Parts: sequence; C-alpha cells; structure tokens
Amino acid sequence: MCGIVGIVGHSPVAPLIVDALKRLEYRGYDSAGVATIEHGALARRRAEGKLINLERRLTADPLDGTIGIGHTRWATHGVPNETNAHPHFSDDVAIVHNGIIENFAELRSELEKDGYVFSSQTDTEVVAHLVSRELRRGARPVDAAFRALKQLRGAFALAIMFKGDDDLIVGARNGPPLAVGHGEGEMFLGSDAIALAPFTDSITYLEDGDWAVIRRNNIQIFDMSGEPVERLRRQSIGTSFLVDKGNHRHFMHKEIHEQPEVISHTLGHYVDFTNGTAKALDLPWDFAKVDRLAISACGTAYLAGLVGKYWFERLARLPVDIDVASEFRYREMPISKNSAALFVSQSGETADTLASLRYCRGEGVPIGAIVNVRESTMAREADVILPTLAGPEIGVASTKAFTCQLSVMASLAIRAGVARGHIAKGEEQVLVRQLAEAARLATQVIKLEDQIEKVARDLAHSRDVLYLGRDTNYPLALEGALKLKELSYIHAEGYAAGELKHGPIALIDENMPVVVIAPHDRIFEKTVSNMQEVAARGGKIILITDERGAANSTLETLDTIVLPDMPEIIAPILYALPVQMLAYHTAVFMGTDVDQPRNLAKSVTVE
Ligand code: M6R
Repeated sequence: MCGIVGIVGHSPVAPLIVDALKRLEYRGYDSAGVATIEHGALARRRAEGKLINLERRLTADPLDGTIGIGHTRWATHGVPNETNAHPHFSDDVAIVHNGIIENFAELRSELEKDGYVFSSQTDTEVVAHLVSRELRRGARPVDAAFRALKQLRGAFALAIMFKGDDDLIVGARNGPPLAVGHGEGEMFLGSDAIALAPFTDSITYLEDGDWAVIRRNNIQIFDMSGEPVERLRRQSIGTSFLVDKGNHRHFMHKEIHEQPEVISHTLGHYVDFTNGTAKALDLPWDFAKVDRLAISACGTAYLAGLVGKYWFERLARLPVDIDVASEFRYREMPISKNSAALFVSQSGETADTLASLRYCRGEGVPIGAIVNVRESTMAREADVILPTLAGPEIGVASTKAFTCQLSVMASLAIRAGVARGHIAKGEEQVLVRQLAEAARLATQVIKLEDQIEKVARDLAHSRDVLYLGRDTNYPLALEGALKLKELSYIHAEGYAAGELKHGPIALIDENMPVVVIAPHDRIFEKTVSNMQEVAARGGKIILITDERGAANSTLETLDTIVLPDMPEIIAPILYALPVQMLAYHTAVFMGTDVDQPRNLAKSVTVE
C-alpha cells in the first residue's frame, strides 16, 4: 500500500520523483523519501508525515543525481517515523518496497548473526541487507538482487539501486503492481501508470514473479527461474493531470458534488435511456444460464455488492453469494462451473479482492470486474471489465465510486432479470426510466446539505452512533457507520434494524444518536416499530426518509432529513448521499483530516 518510483534519467531526478510520488500519495502518507546517487555516493532525504514535509526537506537540502528511487509509505512494520521511512540502505544498496516480507523475522535473525545491524523496525530493511550480503559474497549487482529475491516470501514490489552503477535499477513484482515506463534515453518504474504519466505513456506492466533490469537504453524482464520473458508494451490512457479540488475545501466534498454527473455517465454506459432497455453487454456468461453469482469486494465496494445481492435476487431471481474478499479468498468456497463471479473495486488493486478473483479464475469461473481504474490489475485479469465512470476518486473515503458501483449493479440486475425472464419488456422500460431519474434527484438531495451540516454539528459531540436500516438500507446503514468511523473517528455501528432487539438495543440511552435510513417502502412500518423501540429507551433518532415517510412517521425525532419521494430501484443510490454528507460535515466539525484520514490509504495492496 505504499507507492514506489524509480528513474534512470538524464537530468536531476529528485524533483521528478517527488512529482510522481504526489500521484501515488493515495497509496499511503505516513512518511516519504527519495534516494539518488549523488557524486558517486548514495544519498537520501526522508521525512515523517505527508509528502509536503519531504518537499520542504528537499528545498532546504536538495539532492542531486540523475538516477533515483522514491517512496510514499503506509506503515506495516514499524511506526511511521523518519527512521522507518524508505529508502533503506545497506552498504552500497538502496531499496524501496511496497508489500510485506512474510519471512522477514527469520531473515532478520539470520542476517543479525552475520553481523548486520538494523537501523529500522521495517521488514524492508532485510531486503537491503540480503542484497548487500550477496554483493559481499562476490555477486554482481543484478545477480545479487536476483539471489536476494529468491529468498523472499510474501508480497512485494521493489526498486533496488546500487552505489557503483548509476545506470541500473532492479525492479521486482510479486503481488503489488509495478509498471515500467519507456522513455527516450531514460526509463521509469512506478506503482502505476498514472505516476509515470508526465514522463511517458509507453508502459509495460510486470506480472507476478517478474523482475526487471532497467537501464537508460534498455529493459530486460526475467521470471523467478531467471529466464527472460516478453511482456506487452502498451500505450497507457493515464492522464498526467493532477486533479484539483476546484472551489471545494476537500476532494471528498468535490466528489460528493460530482455524483449527479458521474451517476448519469455510468448509467448511460449500461442502459439505453431512449429505448428503455438495459444494454446487452458482451459478457463471458449468459445470465439466463448461470445458477449462482459470487460477489466479493472490500470495504465500501463490498457494501455496494451487498446492495447488488438484493437487486440480483429480487429482480432476476439469481442467487448471490457475497463475502468480504479477505474471507472469500481463504474459505475455499465450492463454486460450480455454472456460476459467474463479480469483483467490485474502485482501485482494481485491493490485494484481497484480487486474490479472490484469482481463486475464481483457478476454479474456471467467468469473471467480471466492476472497477474505476481501467488499467488496474483486476481490469487486466478479469474476463470482462465493467467500468464505473466516476473519474479519479482522490478522497480516501469512497463516495462517487460507491454510487457508480451501485449504478452498474442496478443496470446489470435489470439485464439479468430480462435475460432470465423475470422482467417483462414493459417492466424493463419502467425500471430504466426510473434509473434515468437518479441524476436529477441526486442534485435535489445535495441541496439538503445545509440541513445535514446542522445535524452533523450535533453528531460531532457523540461518542458512539448507531445506524439502522432494512433491506437495501441495511448495507447503507453499514456504509454510514463506516464513513463516520473512518472520517471522524467516532465509534459507529451499522445494524439491520430488525436485529436491534437481539443485542445492540442494550446500548441505547439518551446519549446515543441513532441514524435510521427508512424511505417509505414496503417495510417502512417495520422500521418504524424498530424506531419506537429506540425512542422508548430514550435514544435520539435522526431519521433519513422521504416525504411520504415523514408524513407517516408519528415518532418524535431529533432531526428528520426529508428526501424527495423516489422509485425503489434508485433509493440506495440516492440515500448514500445524505449518509456521505453527514459523515463529511461531522469530520469537518471535528477538524480531522477528511481527505487523508489517519491510518488509512486509498489503495490497500497488502493483506
Ligand atoms: O479500491 P477498492 O474499492 O477495492 O477499496 C476497497 C476499500 O478499501 C475501500 O472501499 C475503503 O473501505 C474506503 N476507505 C471506504 O470509504
């Protein structure tokens, strides 16, 4: 979950590396560092905290050199301080790493016995010492790197630089992504193509088990048996622009406000509004014939999948198994050849989701990836890419990617329903016309922001918050709690409203705000009963409902946020918005770092 960069260039590389690291800061922002070969010696600058601290350090104390490596860190082993920041050195070796070296403890004790002294608590430092030990044993740099790589277990993307050679970086990939960028008399290495976009759009993605010898004028790629391998060189579509916040205070705020537009773009990709049909996509499975759909994802993307389960089962009578990917990948789920599998991910790089995708590939199941980053590993490895057209999502908290994932899933469920004969032509037209209302209604919902900001002012004083919902509002309750936790650090739980009396009701007292997500749907009255149970115990209810719900609820609430009445199919998409705004404004009142909350990273490429 760190970002790594390497450049074998022909002008001073430190500023270029920092520029590339800015595009990778979504992968981690605990500390950052750059190393170059300066006047024949390894030199580095590192700084705790965000990249801006490293920039200040470099301004005060610049680094020269036309070859260099850089890193932005999300800490796994060792606290996020300068000592643990990458690059790590050992004698003549400098190294940056993304991933986890699983056998680092045994390697470390072995290296310590050989006299190596560790200056950090990281797993990465063992790699630097391993390469250095191979050099001491007489290996040439490339061979030393290869011998060290063969001793590693775990997940890694690595860039290794050697003091004696200012025309060499060795890159290696086993798990986390790594891209080589081809330039004119200069070469690049980066965690993704976007990082390298200002330098080149000619990209070769390394595959798992690949390692590359990168010099100014050529690149050789090998597998782990040391055999040369050919990898496709392709034109990247990555943009070199760093997205800005426009007039918004935070990226997250901008991304919330972009939703009417990106929902509309995404829906337009999957449904034909003019004819009122869900488009027949070129899928590697036939919805009419599959007997099960497996969905897997992490975090907010998982919750989009959970909403999808309700839709696929209700609209298409298609049974869905859904798991968080960290469980899916290890639970050895039996999966029949008549199944299809869907993986949902904004980044397309989440390690657990990718491993689950590979599990299904091994089982011979056709695979679709609902991804936002079209050049991601999941997009490349799936049989079909089902893109969300959300545009770059920079805020660590997922907002517009979520509602676009829901838009894809609603369209697919309608398509599946038609293919399986559960949705008649007329019904399909009605449903597609209802989807067409989503963007317009999203604009109206966003206008509730001032009221939601006032509600957030009170919520910011809470220690715990409970979110309740039934049916598709249950995943939204989970999403509301997740958003509030990750942004404001207030403890929050999401529950299926009917489950309240089976335990969590014990928590209710006059200090516990309970956010109830309850449009006036077929089970509204059931949810009202659950609200009565909360009210009877002094709980303070914040009700998010529609005009009919507000008119039909006899309960006294602390606040009622009233959305326009809307068709059931688009409700999960639109009810996500107040939930996002509530978490956003609570975090703003609390003064937390909204776009880069503590301990998190946008792309989670470790287990
Ligand atoms: O890139 P992905 O969609 O695979 O990421 C999955 C989760 O890490 C992500 O949704 C996370 O839960 C967000 N911080 C939620 O806002």
